[in-house]
Amino acid sequence: MLIKNLKLESKFNTFLLIIFILGAILTSTLLFQVLERNAETEVSDRAKLIVQTMNSVRDYTTSNIQPLLNDRLEVEPAFIPETVPAFSATEVFQKLRKNEAYRSFFYKEATLNPTNLRDKVDSFETSLVEKFRNEPTTKELSGFRDLPSGKVFYTARPLSIKKDSCLRCHSTPDRAPKSQIATYGADNGFGWKLNEIVATQVISVPAEEILNNAQDALKVVMAVLLAVFGAILLAINYLLRRTIIQPIKNMVKTAEAVSLGDMDAEFQHQNDDEIGLLATAFGRMKSSLQISMNLLKQWE
Ligand code: HEC
Repeated sequence: MLIKNLKLESKFNTFLLIIFILGAILTSTLLFQVLERNAETEVSDRAKLIVQTMNSVRDYTTSNIQPLLNDRLEVEPAFIPETVPAFSATEVFQKLRKNEAYRSFFYKEATLNPTNLRDKVDSFETSLVEKFRNEPTTKELSGFRDLPSGKVFYTARPLSIKKDSCLRCHSTPDRAPKSQIATYGADNGFGWKLNEIVATQVISVPAEEILNNAQDALKVVMAVLLAVFGAILLAINYLLRRTIIQPIKNMVKTAEAVSLGDMDAEFQHQNDDEIGLLATAFGRMKSSLQISMNLLKQWE
């Protein structure tokens, strides 16, 4: 075995290095997973909060605003969009985005055939709606996306027509309020069917910063680990040299001197540790050797 031929110091350092490398690999992979999961939970919690808030805005519009203004939709010359949940949610979100901290947040009721063209799906949202249509049991799709503005976390939910009352304005133009046709025309936002998934509610929250924070935390922990390991390595090497290697070297030198007949060479007892005991034992052995040799000389 190669390791057998190594000096004590190299042996210790090789073992320590192997343990450290394995420890560092294990720590960094586990820590990376934990930090990444935490970061994901954090962004998805943010997204969830926004969905819930937007759904509350929608509910409020349906239950509190619509009944107040419903009658006026037939008589007013222009449609009152404030009665539409999709409109109020989108508007409330626009106001939220005016705040610097929420500028890169995003909310859309992305619709295949929208009444208001600002709700028109893009290609990514089209694929989401199609997925929801093909897999009716899927209630949510989410994940990370790389956008030019940075990495974002998106959550999407299907939006379907559950109530017959929706079809008043979204089935055929002749059923819709006159003001709706006056404002939006008769081309868009019609032909929807009951129970059909017509849109997806998409929320994106910026994830770049949170993921970067996780990476920074990982770097700090690994740097601390490296520093602690370096300190341990230095300390062990210092102790090893001072308490074992140097005393043993001294003893070897003394033993060699004694073996060449220098009976004045002394085994130095520096400490009361095992090496010290060994030095004392050698010292005693030297004395016995000297006594035996003196006896031998007397007999000659
Ligand atoms: C009184 C007519 C009316 C009724 C009833 C109505 N909507 Fe709408 N809906 C509209 C108008 C008008 C818009 C466009 C509002 C805007 O300017 O953003 C719209 C927008 C939407 C949008 C956003 C996409 C788009 O078409 O621009 C969705 C999704 C939607 N409606 C779903 C529903 C659902 C679901 C119901 C039933 C719960 C419903 N609507 C009932 C008139 C109506």
